[in-house]
Order: sequence, then C-alpha cells, then structure tokens
Amino acid sequence: MKVLVVGGGGREHALVWKLKQSPRVKEIYCAPGNAGIAGDARCVDIRADDLKGLLCFARENSVDLTVVGPEAPLAAGIVDEFREAGLKIFGPSRAAAEIESSKVLAKEIMSKYHIPTARYAVFDDPAAAGAYIKENGAPCVVKAEGLAAGKGVIVAPDEQTALEGVRSIMVDRQFGAAGSRLVVEECLVGEEVSILAFSDGVNVVPMVSSQDHKPVFENDRGPNTGGMGAYAPAPVYTPEIHKITMEKILCPVIRAMRAEGRIYCGVIYAGLMVTEEGPKVLEFNVRFGDPEAQPVLTLLETDLVEIMEAVLEGRLDQIKIEWKEQSSVCVVLASGGYPGSYEKGKIIRGLGEMPDRVMVFHAGTAEKDGEIVTSGGRVLGVTAAGADLPAAVESVYAAVEKISFEGMQYRRDIGRKALARIK
Ligand code: AMP
Ligand code: GLY
Repeated sequence: MKVLVVGGGGREHALVWKLKQSPRVKEIYCAPGNAGIAGDARCVDIRADDLKGLLCFARENSVDLTVVGPEAPLAAGIVDEFREAGLKIFGPSRAAAEIESSKVLAKEIMSKYHIPTARYAVFDDPAAAGAYIKENGAPCVVKAEGLAAGKGVIVAPDEQTALEGVRSIMVDRQFGAAGSRLVVEECLVGEEVSILAFSDGVNVVPMVSSQDHKPVFENDRGPNTGGMGAYAPAPVYTPEIHKITMEKILCPVIRAMRAEGRIYCGVIYAGLMVTEEGPKVLEFNVRFGDPEAQPVLTLLETDLVEIMEAVLEGRLDQIKIEWKEQSSVCVVLASGGYPGSYEKGKIIRGLGEMPDRVMVFHAGTAEKDGEIVTSGGRVLGVTAAGADLPAAVESVYAAVEKISFEGMQYRRDIGRKALARIK
C-alpha cells in the first residue's frame, strides 16, 4: 500500500520509520518532511496545513492511507475532508480534535463527565480574569484558549506573573486568536506523565507511558519548549496509577466524546499530573506527542499499519498490541536561543557515526549543498532503546556526544527523575 505522513518534525520521522517497517507498505510519502525523513520516504513539498494540496496529492497518487502528525491540520478538519472524498485517513475529525484546540471545551467536558482535572474558570475579559486572580491568589495557571504550540500556558508562582500572563494572552495577543478567551486554573503539584492511547471511538488501548521534559534547561528551569526530550516507560506511572487512569480518565473521555457527538478515532494523548490525590488531566492532545512518539514508537513491536487499520475499522478490541520489554530515551538537540529566536543553516556533523541501535530522528533539518544543516528550533531527536533505562540513557548520551553544530544545546538530565525513582 501507499502511505502519506503529514508533517515534518521528529514525530513524523518516527512515524515514517515505524510505518516503513510494515511489510504492507510499498511506498511512503511525507509532506513536507525534512532532510532526515528524505532518507526514509519520498518528501513532497506541500505544507501540513495545505489541506487542498494534500487532498489533491493523495488522490492523484492513489494514497491508501494518510497519517496526520501535527494538531493544526486535524483542528482544521483534514480528516473530514479526506473522508468526504472517500480517502482513508488516520486521526480524529475536526469536532473531536476540538478537545485539544479548545481548552475551554476540554475543561467543560471534563467537568460534565467528572474526569479529574484542576479547578478552573473561563474568561473573555482581562479585567474579570484579573479580579478572579486577585481574589483567589497564586500560584495559578493561565492558559490561552486556542492552539499556541505548547507555549500559551503560564504557570504563575505569584499574582504579578499571572496578571502579566493575562495581559500577554488577551491584551497583547501574543498567541493571536488563541487568546480571545483564557482559562485560569488551580496549580497542580506532582510529577507529569504522558499517556497516549489508540481509540476506535469505543475501545481504548493505551501505549507505554512516557515523560516529556518541557522546560529548556536542566532541572526544569527556563521557559517551556515543545519538549527537550522524553523517555518511556515512566516509572511514576505505576500499575495502580494506570488502573485509575483507565477507569477515571481514558475510558470516560472516549465515552464522553461519543455522547457529545464527537466520536474519537485516532490517538488520544492525556497529559497527566500524578498528584497526591491521584492522576489529574493537564491537557488532552489529539495526536502522538513530540518528542514522546520517538521513544514510544521505538518500543512498539506490532505493525503500526495493522493497528491503524483496526482503529479505522472499529475493531481495536480484536488485535493484540505488543511492546518491547525495554526502555527508550530521546534527547532533543536544539538550536542555540530556542525557544526564543535562533539562527538556521548551521552544518550538522557526526551523523554518520551513529551506532546501530541509535536512531536519529530529524526535527528541523534541511539539505544545503550536499550537507545537512539546521532549519528549526528543535533539530534532532537522538533516540536509543536499551534493556533498562540506565542502559538506554548511557547509549543515547554516548551518541549525542558525537554530534555537533554551532550553538547546539540539549539537556543532560533526560530521564533523571526516573533514574532517581528506580534507585
Ligand atoms: P498544557 O499545554 O496545558 O499541558 O500545559 C503546559 C505545561 O504547563 C504542562 O506540561 C505543565 O508543566 C504545566 N501546567 C499546565 N497546567 C498546569 C496545572 N494546572 N498545574 C501545574 N502545572 C500545569
Ligand atoms: N510533547 C508535548 C506535545 O507533544 O504536546
């Protein structure tokens, strides 16, 4: 079959890498892809948000299955358009994807169906939000309503920071239209974990747990990024937490979406805070996480095409999804200055020296005069699996040391929380 992957980051490289292993896949395209993906798929120069262009390409090239990586095309309704045209596509519809693209909808659904999450209030007026913050005090969390590439969330230790957050979202419109409404919520305390699951609208099958590292600097300091690294599985996600997550969060949200007429088909990602009172939802995403997909997909034994077809045909309960009994770690190598402004076009060295078991998923790279150069904030996701987490961490950092480009920055503590926990 012919497969088209939509997107061009590290997550999409991991998807291409995994899908390509399926004996069913004869041809794989990626739009727009990147310099690393070009080694595994045919890259086509169509942007991930060019729905019409993607639809035309899929039709003209008789694509049998389209897999959508990022949230923006899902929120824009790519799945509805492809389905209307009679094309097979993996991901939630526009109405279902709203659980990520509208933080207000996500909170309303959680509240209506008693899914554990932080207490919250919604505002469309900065003065009212300010008054609420002054009355309820800090710490609190201020979130822009819409999609803001993971950056529209301000965790405010004090009132002043919260009020500045309201101003930047709603008055200065730092995140554009995403800031027409905002949510102020209770600050949860605990350790974060990402739990991704496949759903066919009725059945929910979880993947191995993982943990992202959002702040740019070690020890979780500095501004939030799209994610500086991740590992799987996450020891904080114990069998007991898993049981509660399935019963109180994942199964109920899929049931709730069905009841709301927003049948959920695809990958659902629950960002959880494991608090003293149990797991609570920070956010739902409607796709694989980036960089969580990198370690999670390297642990997946089962053919991903088989899983995706089972999702699309509503028979997820009839297949067995298997995982390697190993750990996997992804360390993101980023451009100097990221998540602020950064330079592009830096030559990347050392890519030819990777040991066999290490995967280098490309996130922001391009080819220029025969060399691989940087072209984004997150540049590479170096990923290694091992018998256990210490082994995977050791392999990944040994590989990272061989790679260099001007201004390269990365966190040296990916997996440290888990290492402390298993000691
Ligand atoms: P979100 O995009 O909603 O997941 O928020 C981005 C990051 O902000 C999360 O990964 C958390 O680190 C943090 N965060 C979001 N909501 C809360 C909350 N209610 N309490 C504490 N931290 C939060
Ligand atoms: N790693 C966080 C996300 O994909 O949203």
